[in-house]
Amino acid sequence: MISTKLCSLLEIDFPIINAPMTGSAGAALASAVTRTGAFGMIGATLEPEPTWLNEQIQAVREKTDLPFGVGFISSAPGITKSVQTALDAKVSAVGCSFIDPTSFISQAKEAGVKSIAQVQTLNDAKRAVAAGADIIVAQGSEAGGHTSYMGTLSFVRSVVKIAGDTPVVAAGGIADGPGLAAVLMLGAEGVWMGTRFVASIEWAGAEWAKGQVVIADADATILTKVYDMLTEAPFPPSVGDRVIANTFTDTWHGRETEMMELQRKLREQIATAVDAEDATTAPVPAGSVSGLIRSVEPASYIIREIMSQAEDILKNRPQALLGN
Ligand SMILES: Cc1cc2nc3c(=O)[nH]c(=O)nc-3n(C[C@H](O)[C@H](O)[C@H](O)COP(=O)(O)O)c2cc1C
Repeated sequence: MISTKLCSLLEIDFPIINAPMTGSAGAALASAVTRTGAFGMIGATLEPEPTWLNEQIQAVREKTDLPFGVGFISSAPGITKSVQTALDAKVSAVGCSFIDPTSFISQAKEAGVKSIAQVQTLNDAKRAVAAGADIIVAQGSEAGGHTSYMGTLSFVRSVVKIAGDTPVVAAGGIADGPGLAAVLMLGAEGVWMGTRFVASIEWAGAEWAKGQVVIADADATILTKVYDMLTEAPFPPSVGDRVIANTFTDTWHGRETEMMELQRKLREQIATAVDAEDATTAPVPAGSVSGLIRSVEPASYIIREIMSQAEDILKNRPQALLGN
């Protein structure tokens, strides 16, 4: 069985973490992942009063005593109470993203909760190491949703080289056993997956969005800022947004100045499209790994299949390459 430093640190059997996707990684996904032996995370929403988050934490606890965590879009304003809620609830780990993680990490340390810093630049990774993050998630540009402009392969390897004893987890472009085996060879201690879990039974986002991931090919996504610019989303300039390319991105990506002159109208158009489940205009955050995903499965099946594929590769491939 594959066991890494991440497994002992988080007290889990399998080195897989589900990405804390805001609002759609709720109790159903986090508890299913945790109960399978991996690490489940809830993606906190941007609610000023953490009612939803409280409910999700309680709902996971009704299903399992095993460890799980909560993650945040830390660059969003007004999440202070949600962070405090997760710390007060003594979840096993809290995750931050899209900020200088220093004060988040010290707040988690004070509360006795492990900290996970998702980083998109080498500078952010160095800051996370210096601040004493328990785990660093190196997120490459293949990732679905908001992500870095650096490819996963070279970024993960670069972060591993500066991280010392801090375990590094790879994110972006991993959806199967070969992906897990590959990043373990780079020195990562596990994987953090979003898109693969979008196509899970327990993901709480829209069903039509799951369908879009299942039919998308590997080259069907685009890293763009058009939706963020129109909606004034709270992300730093070093971060783009990978979505499934559609008529809307075909029309406006690269024509952002012109687009912003129509901001109000286009914003309304996007909201209408979301309600109408119109994938030609509405954003569907998803990574290039969509091309490897052809079905919606229970999270437990996804995790078990990845682990068995990775174990098989790690046992047999070295022999095939190196001989006896
Ligand atoms: C639908 C979706 C929503 C996401 N939401 C968040 C989020 O709320 N906060 C965050 O830090 N990352 C978010 N991400 C990015 C993930 O944390 C993760 O880095 C990424 O999914 C990993 O790459 P993969 O999609 O190839 O597995 C999201 C990704 C997807 C696909």
